[in-house]
Amino acid sequence: MIALEAKDLKVGYGKADVLDGVNVKVDEGAIVSLVGPNGAGKTTLLLALTGLLPARGTVSYFGEPMANVSVEDRVARGLCLVPERRELFGDLSVSDNLELGGFSRWMRGERQLRESLEEVFERFPRLRERQDKDASTLSGGERQMLALGRALMAAPRLLLLDEPSLGLAPLIVREIFHIISRLRDNGVSLLVVEQNARAALEVSDYAYVLENGRVSMEGAASDLIDNPRVIDTYLGRRQAY
Ligand SMILES: Nc1ncnc2c1ncn2[C@@H]1O[C@H](COP(=O)(O)OP(=O)(O)OP(=O)(O)O)[C@@H](O)[C@H]1O
Ligand SMILES: [Mg+2]
Repeated sequence: MIALEAKDLKVGYGKADVLDGVNVKVDEGAIVSLVGPNGAGKTTLLLALTGLLPARGTVSYFGEPMANVSVEDRVARGLCLVPERRELFGDLSVSDNLELGGFSRWMRGERQLRESLEEVFERFPRLRERQDKDASTLSGGERQMLALGRALMAAPRLLLLDEPSLGLAPLIVREIFHIISRLRDNGVSLLVVEQNARAALEVSDYAYVLENGRVSMEGAASDLIDNPRVIDTYLGRRQAY
């Protein structure tokens, strides 16, 4: 089954298009990474896929066209974005932030949120330890965990992650990617935008390189990681990592 397929996506903020006919696909249960330079249109693509930006072209999610599906309904169906800036409620506690992540499920009458909260705490023991602390007091890595945990409270089937490793120390980056692999093992499909191309490609099944609003390269992550042009542009020399 294909979790997500976007065809000939064109998105702009005004006159010129930032995305100029992008095709991407995420198979169910796969981790797909999207790498590319600053300003290539990576965040724009994620916003269009969630419905936060209007787009031309088609987006289908588990076989259903999304053209007339609102952002809220996409979230309700499990299509969830973890934004780049980890927009948390700084003066709310960790557990309140997590509960807000389950709000739309609760509104739909689901009452298993306690179990979901317990699962998030099992996945992120550090969030359990800090559950009563304000989100604003968390470290960068803990904030990313909270942003991921909050998305998990919505019971996602497909997670869109915008630069999950941004600003994190190497050890925490490894931890975050380890968590991402475990999510895939639990049946969540993932589309991950990353500047840290090596860390992303190492856990991904498939990858796209986005340059100037177009897909310039794509392939199995294990092939791209050995591709000389990808190495020169995005990976650098081995010892750099
Ligand atoms: N709200 C906006 N209004 C107008 N132009 C925008 C807006 N957001 C982004 N852009 C432009 O769209 C282009 C793509 O931006 P986008 O944020 O998608 O890039 P990105 O690949 O995510 O870059 P980065 O790696 O720096 O996060 C850029 O040229 C940017 O200036
Ligand atoms: Mg971006």
